[in-house]
Amino acid sequence: MIIKPRVRGFICLTAHPEGCEKNVTDQIDFTRLKGKIADGPKNVLVIGASTGFGLASRIVSAFGSDSSTIGVFFEKPPMEGKPATPGWYNTVAFEKEAHEKGLYAKSINGDAFSNEIKQKTIDLIKSDLKKIDLVIYSLASPRKVHPDTQQVYNSVIKPIGKTFENKTVDFHSGTVSNVVIEPCTEEEVNNTVEVMGGDDWERWIDILKKEDVLSSECLTIAYSYVGPEVTTPIYRNGSIGRAKDHLEQSAFKISEKLKDIDGKAYVSVNKALVTQASSAIPVIPLYISLLYKAMKEEGVHEGCIEQIYRLFETKLFSGEIPTDEKGRIRIDDWEMRPDIQAKVSQLWDKVTTENIGEIADLEGYRNDFFKLFGFGYDAVDYDVDVNELQEIPG
Ligand code: NAI
Ligand code: NA
Repeated sequence: MIIKPRVRGFICLTAHPEGCEKNVTDQIDFTRLKGKIADGPKNVLVIGASTGFGLASRIVSAFGSDSSTIGVFFEKPPMEGKPATPGWYNTVAFEKEAHEKGLYAKSINGDAFSNEIKQKTIDLIKSDLKKIDLVIYSLASPRKVHPDTQQVYNSVIKPIGKTFENKTVDFHSGTVSNVVIEPCTEEEVNNTVEVMGGDDWERWIDILKKEDVLSSECLTIAYSYVGPEVTTPIYRNGSIGRAKDHLEQSAFKISEKLKDIDGKAYVSVNKALVTQASSAIPVIPLYISLLYKAMKEEGVHEGCIEQIYRLFETKLFSGEIPTDEKGRIRIDDWEMRPDIQAKVSQLWDKVTTENIGEIADLEGYRNDFFKLFGFGYDAVDYDVDVNELQEIPG
C-alpha cells in the first residue's frame, strides 16, 4: 500500500516500514562509526525495546557491544491495508540487521506488566541465553492492568496542589497559547505512581532473580527525567514526578535485593527528546523546541542514540559509575548546563506564535516527530507501494 502520515493531535496513526527501517539503520550506522564499547554488556534484556530510549539501548548493546538481545514491547502488528505501529517496523529492521551480523536477537510482543509476558521472557532466556547481565527498563505507558488484581490504572500528567498555567505550542500549526491544567486528586497521583513508578521494574527483577537468570555483577537501568524550572510544576513536581520519585527510590531497593549477586540498579536521568511519550505532554514540546535551538547552536544536541551511546561508554562501562547526590546517573548534563538553561529561559519569556519559527527549532521538533513514524526521510520514496505486512523475523 501507499502509506502517508495521518496525524491526529500528538499522534500519527500510520507508520512507514521503509522509513522506520531508515530510522533504525541510521542509529546502527551512528553506533558502528563510534566503535566498540570496552567491557560492554553481553546478554541484554530491554523492556520497552521498540522505540525511543529503549530501542537506542538495544541498538547500542547489539552494535556497540556485540550483545545478544531480547526485546519486550507492546506494538500493534500490521493488517491488510493497515500499517503496524512504528515499534513493530523498527523491530523488523533491527532484527534483520542483527541477524545479518550474526547477532542473537529475539523479541516478545505483549504487555510487560503481565505475569504471562514475564514468564515467557524467563522461558526464552532459559532456553537461549541462560543469563542476563544488563536489564534496561524503558517502559512508557499511559495505563497498567495490575498483574495480580487485573485492576486498571491510568496515569495522568497534572500538577499537584495548584493550578498550572503556562505557555504551550501546537507543534503542527506553531500556535503558542496558554494552557491551564487543574491539579490532580490524590487518587490520580497514586494511579500514576502505579503505572510509571518502580513497582513493575522491581517485579521484573524479582522474578528474573528468583528464576536464577541474572548473572553476577548484573546491572539494571531505568530512565528518569528532571528538567527545567518552567516544566517543574507539571513534570517533576506533578503526578508524573511522583512516579519518577518512586522509580528512583526503587533503584535503591532493587540494589539491596541484588547485593548477594553483586548486582546494581541505577536510574539514569536522560535528556528531553521527541518521542511518542513526550509529545503527549503539554508544555514539553515548546520546551523541547527551544532546547533544541539552544543545544544545536552550542553544538551539544543529541538524539536518543547519542544519549545512550554516551551513557554506555562514559557512565555505565568505564569503571566506577558516576552519580549525583541522589545516586542518579546524569546524562542530561548537557541539557542542564547553566548556559543552555539560561538561553532557553530567556527564549521562553519571549516566544510567541509570531516569532516561534525564528527563535525555536520547531522544524527540528516536527521533523523528529514525523521520523518517529518513518516519515520525512529523503531516501524514502513515499509515493511507492510498500508491503505493510512485514513480520518480525524472530
Ligand atoms: P517511547 O514511547 O518511545 O517507548 C516506550 C516503550 O515502551 C515502547 O517500546 C513501547 O512498546 C513500550 N511499552 C509501552 N507500554 C508497554 C506495555 N504495557 N508492555 C510492554 N511494552 C510497553 O518512550 P520513551 O520516551 O523512550 O520513554 C522511555 C523511558 O524514558 C520512560 O521512562 C520515560 O519517562 C523516560 N524518559 C523519556 C524522556 C523523553 O524526553 N522522551 C526523557 C527522560 C526520560
Ligand atoms: Na523506550
